[in-house]
Amino acid sequence: MKTGDLMAPVIAIDGPTASGKGTVATAVARELGWHMLDSGALYRLAAWTVLDQNIDANDLSAVAMAARRMDIRFEEQAIYLANQDVTRLIRQEHVGNLASRIASAAVLREALLERQRAFCQPPGLVADGRDMGTVVFPHAALKVFLVADVQARAARRAQQLRQRGQAVDESAVLADLKERDARDTDRVAAPLKPAPDAHQLDSSRLTVDETVAAVLVMWRRQQRHA
Ligand code: C5P
Repeated sequence: MKTGDLMAPVIAIDGPTASGKGTVATAVARELGWHMLDSGALYRLAAWTVLDQNIDANDLSAVAMAARRMDIRFEEQAIYLANQDVTRLIRQEHVGNLASRIASAAVLREALLERQRAFCQPPGLVADGRDMGTVVFPHAALKVFLVADVQARAARRAQQLRQRGQAVDESAVLADLKERDARDTDRVAAPLKPAPDAHQLDSSRLTVDETVAAVLVMWRRQQRHA
């Protein structure tokens, strides 16, 4: 993958787990006809690699080295790792949990940095994650920090899991979200926090369509004042 064209405009959408970033970012990208980066998928792919290759998750340089070597292909709806379709495999809760643990390692974050920037290609990029506006694309044209109260996020996550046919213990989902929030917020390397120039958007009481519309309004307003 070649280094991205940092001249292409970026909309960064950051926020905590299950705030709806992925769904909103995908819809905004589709609406604008732009590329999309699901940066969480890269951390999940690294976690999947650790499990698949029996790498010691505490050996962070081994984790980072394996992440650098990942042969990834993003297609319209699918993600391939070394030609294996891992789209569903990386969405499992235990993979997400390991992703959240290893994501606190600066050496892994550094290993994934250029790969993320390479997604920045014309006509533009919508990037979702935790540090898109602070670290990966600090010059993003628009930064949105999407929040939702933890109860609303837990309800959404539980619904997602049920739709995938998984049994759901709502109190476990809530506890897991709180744990991930704490880990993402308290880590030293690229902690989850809004960039100083980010627009905070609370989606607790908004539908997906309303949230997408709010981001598009911000983008158009920003264009008028650019
Ligand atoms: O967004 P998603 O839940 O798929 O991300 C999986 C994990 O990867 C998160 O829990 C978070 O700890 C980590 N992550 C990160 N920085 C990003 C995206 C995800 O640390 N930009």
